[in-house]
Amino acid sequence: MKEKLESIRASALERLNRANDLKAIEELRLSLIGKKSELMGILKSLGALSPEERPAVGKMVNETSAFIEEKLSQAKQALILSAQNARLMSEAVDVTIPGKRRALGSRHPMQLALDEVTSVFLGMGYEIAEGPDIETDYYNFEALNIPANHPAKDEQDTFYVEGGFVLRTQTSSVQIRTMERKRPPIKIIAPGAVYRSDQVDATHSPSFHQLEALVVDHGITMGDLKGSLSAFIRQLFGSSTQVRFRPHHFPFTEPSAEMDASCFFCNGKGCRICKGSGWIEILGCGMVHPKVLQLAGIDPDEYTGFAFGVGVERIAMLRFDISDMRLLFENDIRFLNQF
Ligand code: DAH
Repeated sequence: MKEKLESIRASALERLNRANDLKAIEELRLSLIGKKSELMGILKSLGALSPEERPAVGKMVNETSAFIEEKLSQAKQALILSAQNARLMSEAVDVTIPGKRRALGSRHPMQLALDEVTSVFLGMGYEIAEGPDIETDYYNFEALNIPANHPAKDEQDTFYVEGGFVLRTQTSSVQIRTMERKRPPIKIIAPGAVYRSDQVDATHSPSFHQLEALVVDHGITMGDLKGSLSAFIRQLFGSSTQVRFRPHHFPFTEPSAEMDASCFFCNGKGCRICKGSGWIEILGCGMVHPKVLQLAGIDPDEYTGFAFGVGVERIAMLRFDISDMRLLFENDIRFLNQF
């Protein structure tokens, strides 16, 4: 009997060695120590033995059963542990790998300048108006009192596109569109791209940006224009900045003027920025021409208005001391990172 039990043990160990998952171990448990196992069979037949033999054999069977039970449970634990380890290994995160740095962008100087100018006018109660970049001859020229033979319409300045359209050469076209759409009081700014067939150099580009402004109401005067523009310039370049108006000509304003600001760099003494004059040319402006009001359906006997147009690249260049306009379009990351 003793040999038999030993051979059961040996075979159990050998089968356990081959059991490589939990299911196999459970099957083995049933087959080795389950109700129908050989071992349990022996236990059941103890009654057939003599009373002297019974306790010793019973003890041996129980020991064998306990031994197998122990080995099964060890094997089961080992399997669970190794499955757990495998999962931990596969899910492991290496916290020592250096992180990926995300390059932080910066805002483009043009956008900075535009936001700054826009926010000054929004603060003064202006609304933002828009118009298309591709315009008709009417909105870009005719309605602005620019006659058919005007030199600005020359092929050299204007990009003509198919169908009789032009790429707008000035945001002044938005004045007309706004007046057609809206009755006074009108108080708008219109920032946007404009196009001229210019050669590229440090101060010219075939595409640049302007910010147009239009105010139309009862009793608007040149004094309102002057007050609004000096408030704007002082917010932009500092509260001690002076402005001056020089007579000029634009077909859509009468009278027309160009506005200069005292050089914020040298305070008017004369330096490289103002080319020694103490003044910096900033923008064109004037009182809206009665003909322009009339064409847009606004009675010039009842209403008056002022308008101005400012180059945004020029503002950005002055504001950030940029000497070449091309830097604003080339988008060299070494340049952009400085803002
Ligand atoms: N449109 C003009 C230009 O492109 C700028 C300008 C001048 C706009 C006088 C105005 C104005 O509204 O009143 O040069």
